[in-house]
Formats: sequence, C-alpha cells, structure tokens
Amino acid sequence: MVKITLSQAILISIWVCIFSFVCSVGSDVFDHAPQDLCEFCAISNRTSRTRLLYENETTNIIAFRSKDPDCKKHYLITPHLHIKNYFSPEATCDLIHELQRVCNEMLDEEGIKYKRRILFHIPPFYSVTHLHLHCMACTNDDESFLSSQYYINKFMDFASPDIEDKCPHTV
Ligand SMILES: *[C@@H]1O[C@H](CO)[C@@H](O)[C@H](O)[C@H]1NC(C)=O
Ligand SMILES: *[C@@H]1O[C@H](CO)[C@@H](O)[C@H](O)[C@H]1NC(C)=O
Ligand SMILES: [Zn+2]
Ligand SMILES: [Zn+2]
Repeated sequence: MVKITLSQAILISIWVCIFSFVCSVGSDVFDHAPQDLCEFCAISNRTSRTRLLYENETTNIIAFRSKDPDCKKHYLITPHLHIKNYFSPEATCDLIHELQRVCNEMLDEEGIKYKRRILFHIPPFYSVTHLHLHCMACTNDDESFLSSQYYINKFMDFASPDIEDKCPHTV
C-alpha cells in the first residue's frame, strides 16, 4: 500500500479541487450567456427536457435536479423571470425567502435529515447568470475532507452571500 502523509493528501486534494473547479465552472465564470441562450430560461419555458420537481404558477418558481450534484441531494430553485443574480434589484427579499421556503419544503417532504446547505452565489462565481438557489442536503461522505468535493463545497460556501445580511428573517 502506498502511504501518503496527511499534508500530502491535503495538497493533492487542493489540486484536484482547483483542477475540477476550473474545469467545471471556471470556463463559464467570465463568459456568461445572454438571456436567449440561458439554460434556466429554457428549462422554465419547457424548451429543455429537464424534468421539473416543483412548479408554482402563482409565484412562477420552479425546481429541478442539478445536473452536476455537489451533494447527495442537490436541487436548483429559480424564478421563471430572468433575474441576473442575488444582488439584482429584482431579487427582492420576498422572492429570496420564497426560494428558501420551497427548498426546505422539498427537503422536508422527502424527510431528509442530512445537513442542509442552502445558498446563492456571489458574482462572478456562478455558472448560469439566472438567479438560482442551490438547495442541498449532504451526507458525511460529501463532507469528508478526503474527497475533492469537500473543497468544492467549501469554496461554494465561501463564495455565497450571507442571506441574513440582505434579507433577515426577523425584522
Ligand atoms: C425559451 O428560452 C430560451 C432560452 O432563453 C429561448 O432561446 C427561447 O426562445 C424561449 N422559447 C420560448 C418559446 O419562449
Ligand atoms: C404557490 O405558492 C404560494 C406561496 O408559497 C402558495 O400559497 C400556493 O399555495 C402555491 N400554489 C400551489 C398551487 O402550490
Ligand atoms: Zn434565464
Ligand atoms: Zn449555481
């Protein structure tokens, strides 16, 4: 058996993380698609085949499975409206709170007990320029620091805004 030290393992994981991050999101970070090429608009207007897990015709909010899951459960929750990001004026606190509520409702309905990670992105660290909430439930395996996913998740946590700053739940 090849023995590696903990610091070597950490170093390797960091490189794997940087490599996979650059490959998965890096190319999109500085090259955001215009609205007519937006994949979430296409999902929302049903020109894409992605199956919807939630749809509300009053609030115009939809949810679907992430095609590139970072945790055991990974849903994306988004308004039909092409709002650019979390800091756009159209991203009102009512909308932000409703997206969070839908996420918790979906995870509650499935009886999911894993650790929840519910987050938006800080620009420019997103792959799709259409406001979306990452709604995740992560097992211990997803959280193991020996997996490269751990570092991707840490980076996502780091590159996400503190929702309570903009939209506190208790006013
Ligand atoms: C659906 O959305 C896509 C992506 O934004 C757009 O190119 C297409 O024209 C839209 N189709 C309809 C019917 O609205
Ligand atoms: C749509 O969402 C609103 C706000 O959460 C809720 O009151 C309503 O019952 C939902 N409608 C459906 C059909 O689920
Ligand atoms: Zn869009
Ligand atoms: Zn995202």
